[in-house]
Amino acid sequence: MIPIMIIPKGRFKARFRSGSSKVVLLFVIFLLPSVLGQSDKDDDGDDCSETPFECPKPNGNFADPCECRRFYICNTYVPTKILCPARLRWDDRKKECTYENEAECGPIEAVERDEEKEKIEEAPKCDPEQCQLPYCFCSKDGDEPPVDPESIPQFILLMIDGAVNTNNFHFYQSLLNNTDQEEEKRLKATFFIQNEYCNYYMVERLYTEGHEIALSSVTGRNLQRANASVWRNEFGSLRDILIKYSNVAPEDILGVRAPRLKPGYNEQYQALIEEGFIWDSSVSTVPLETPVWPYTLDYKIPHECRVKSCPTKSFPGLWELPLNSHFVSDDTGGQCPFVDQCVFNYQSSNSVFEWLKEDFLRNYENNRSPYILSLHTNWFLTESQEEGLHKFVDWARTQDDIFFVTGTEFLLWLTDENLDQGSKTSYQSPPLLTKREMSCNTPNSCELSHTESNGVETLRYMKTCRDCPQIYPWLKPVEEENFDGISDEN
Ligand SMILES: *[C@@H]1O[C@H](CO)[C@@H](O)[C@H](O)[C@H]1NC(C)=O
Ligand SMILES: *[C@@H]1O[C@H](CO)[C@@H](O)[C@H](O)[C@H]1NC(C)=O
Repeated sequence: MIPIMIIPKGRFKARFRSGSSKVVLLFVIFLLPSVLGQSDKDDDGDDCSETPFECPKPNGNFADPCECRRFYICNTYVPTKILCPARLRWDDRKKECTYENEAECGPIEAVERDEEKEKIEEAPKCDPEQCQLPYCFCSKDGDEPPVDPESIPQFILLMIDGAVNTNNFHFYQSLLNNTDQEEEKRLKATFFIQNEYCNYYMVERLYTEGHEIALSSVTGRNLQRANASVWRNEFGSLRDILIKYSNVAPEDILGVRAPRLKPGYNEQYQALIEEGFIWDSSVSTVPLETPVWPYTLDYKIPHECRVKSCPTKSFPGLWELPLNSHFVSDDTGGQCPFVDQCVFNYQSSNSVFEWLKEDFLRNYENNRSPYILSLHTNWFLTESQEEGLHKFVDWARTQDDIFFVTGTEFLLWLTDENLDQGSKTSYQSPPLLTKREMSCNTPNSCELSHTESNGVETLRYMKTCRDCPQIYPWLKPVEEENFDGISDEN
């Protein structure tokens, strides 16, 4: 009866995604007779619109203020009420009916005006003529490699998020065991440190072994809607803490990842520029058959963001190492930016290994985008997963064109002026920027008072080679936020 209803789901969505107003019109015309005949009782039981709808503008389509399935077509201020088909909702931003879980219910007028202003400042689409390495890198769909993939070494970026402490340090030591390995087969990882319950002595150990220390946050809270000064304080305070208590050289702290992988719109990236960071790894993609390559944020992000709070403005020269979703062809385990968020219940270590390998081959056999393997401590709590990862790493180490590097080491390779003269087996890791030696063999154990976010005074324990401070390391007081450097003794 209603033509639109018999179009298969997938196609329906695809057509509506195209955003053509013709499609919307067609839809409305088909739908009108049946919809207008429907009584209010069918409106999912919501009766809040007692007052008649008033058109905010003479013409156009507008959301009903209290019922997401309903919208109005205004024609010279005369509204006609329309219902989206069953299970669909009116998305007042895209101005179309779409699936319930994707729809942004309206009305969103006030926001719209802001958005129009933002739109003017929005980053333009990639212009490969203008965007040239080493300062800029982009491609139309984000998946074009910088040089012929045949000559690109396959990089694996092991990235671990969270506090480092006695619960997980032994897992990391055992995975990243470089005993008796040749230089080019060394495993390097990148740690996104979270401050709470972190053992600064262990961080120093990882750092001196050649791993990269990057930042998550001090508090671990969701910062998605925080403003730039909150982001600056989280990253700036944590950087100072790691310089101070883990002896990390300031020039080695270059990268960040938003807590819980929730980017903070433009505010976060504004803070990164102001604080002088080089790269970010907070953006994740939807599952893609061809993985995207890292890019600079000079131009519009070239792929669909899995979390909607990606930056939209241009942040020239700031690198993004996006997390491609992990998945395999038969969908076992699901799809996940962090591998520990996929499901491997009852799987043997061999099937975990095969899963990782299949996922990895999408990069290896395709455009050689670096394989970013991100995980939390959780991964190691299941023995078959830990063993499966060890098998994967051992296998990768036997290939002469696969290298384990940190985030910054990868970018040093990508921005090397002789990039086009390299070959896939010729990678040599750059010498460390800073000489790294443990500053002590036995750390101090500190028992410190700390005020929890609910105001309760507690005791916290931490280990560091440095002298114990008076209070637990935390966010700098906001007054000091613009204060340059560290306030007391270095
Ligand atoms: C690292 O590997 C060596 C042998 O290659 C072994 O003796 C040592 O116990 C391992 N260390 C860790 C921390 O697993
Ligand atoms: C940023 O957010 C914090 C916390 O919500 C608030 O106290 C501060 O005034 C805000 N700063 C600016 C510049 O808006």
